[in-house]
Formats: sequence, structure tokens, C-alpha cells
Amino acid sequence: MAKVEVEYTTYLREALDTMAHGGLLLACADEAGRPNAMTIGWGTVGVIWGKPIFVVLVRPSRYTYELIEKAGAFTVNVPTKDLKVAVAFCGTVSGREYDKFAEKGLTAIDGEKVGVPSIEECVVHYECKVVHKNDVLREVLDGEIDASAYPAGDYHRLYYGEILGTYATEDAAEKLGEA
Ligand SMILES: Cc1cc2nc3c(=O)[nH]c(=O)nc-3n(C[C@H](O)[C@H](O)[C@H](O)COP(=O)(O)O)c2cc1C
Repeated sequence: MAKVEVEYTTYLREALDTMAHGGLLLACADEAGRPNAMTIGWGTVGVIWGKPIFVVLVRPSRYTYELIEKAGAFTVNVPTKDLKVAVAFCGTVSGREYDKFAEKGLTAIDGEKVGVPSIEECVVHYECKVVHKNDVLREVLDGEIDASAYPAGDYHRLYYGEILGTYATEDAAEKLGEA
């Protein structure tokens, strides 16, 4: 379905709710344009430096980490409930071993504002350009969080993506409201 440009705030509540209950799909691509997607459950959206920013947290062990380091951009895609199986797949296998788009029938569409793809089957896309990054530092992290989230020492890198464009299907509200 064709997408229209919307404000980044339009579907924010639905996006954050989906992230907390199932996950969003973070997409990027390699230098040859081969797309990859991974599920994310952690992230935040707000205003920094006077710009709308989507912050995602990616562990260095992820293939996506390598891709974002090279591409300097990513998209965050909001799936509907009918993509549950694809979201689970993208959150458990790596793009190093699988072509997740081919395996789950996902379609990569060119970004309007960034050089990495969005996922056609999702109803909302945030196109983001990396404007800053930093790593979670054990030395200044709460001990309880350190113990529960980082037993293997795989500390996330935070990517601050300036949201250059947000696109949604005309039925996004209806689709995201479906039980
Ligand atoms: C619900 C859910 C949420 C997840 N959230 C994150 C996250 O925020 N950051 C992260 O680094 N990995 C997260 N993961 C794990 C990655 O999605 C998973 O390791 C994935 O296979 C990485 O794919 P890649 O190697 O192709 O990048 C999550 C997995 C699930 C199932």
C-alpha cells in the first residue's frame, strides 16, 4: 500500500507500544544494497539538538551493528500483528547466516531520505541518519542493570538517528489498533 509522509509524532504511541510488546524492525543494508532487519525492544524517541531523534541500542555482536557503522543510517519499521512470525525470526537469527527478507517474504523499499531500505509490509517507517553514537559504559552503569542486561559484557552502542522522514500507510491507525 502507498505510504504518505506524516509527522514523526503521529504514530509514536503505537510505535512505542509495539516496541514494548513484540518489537519493531530495525532495517539497514550492506554496501551492495542487500537488506537486513533485526527486532528491537529497546529504544526511545525525543528531541535532542532541536531535532527529532530515534535512539536505538545495538549490541556489537549483531550483524546490524556492522551495517549501521558502515551505512551511517537506518530505518525503524512498525509491524502489525500479522508479522509476528517474521518479527520473531528477525529477533533470533542473524543476517550473517540468513537472508531474512527472502525467508519471511519481506520486501525492501528504497528510503526517500536515506540510502537504506524500509520494509514494505510494515505500516510506519522512520528514516534515520546517524548523527551521534556512544556506548553503554559499565563504570557508570547501575549495578543491577549491568548484572541483568550484560552478563556477557556485550554492551550496547546507542545510535542517535535524526528522523529525516516518517511514512505511513493510510490504514496504519486501523491496522495498529487491531487486537
Ligand atoms: C523482542 C526482541 C527484542 C530485541 N531487542 C534488541 C535490541 O533492542 N537490541 C539488540 O541489540 N538486540 C535485540 N534483540 C536481539 C536481535 O534482534 C537478534 O540478536 C538478531 O538476531 C540480530 O540480528 P542481526 O545479527 O541480523 O543483526 C531483540 C530480540 C527480540 C526477540
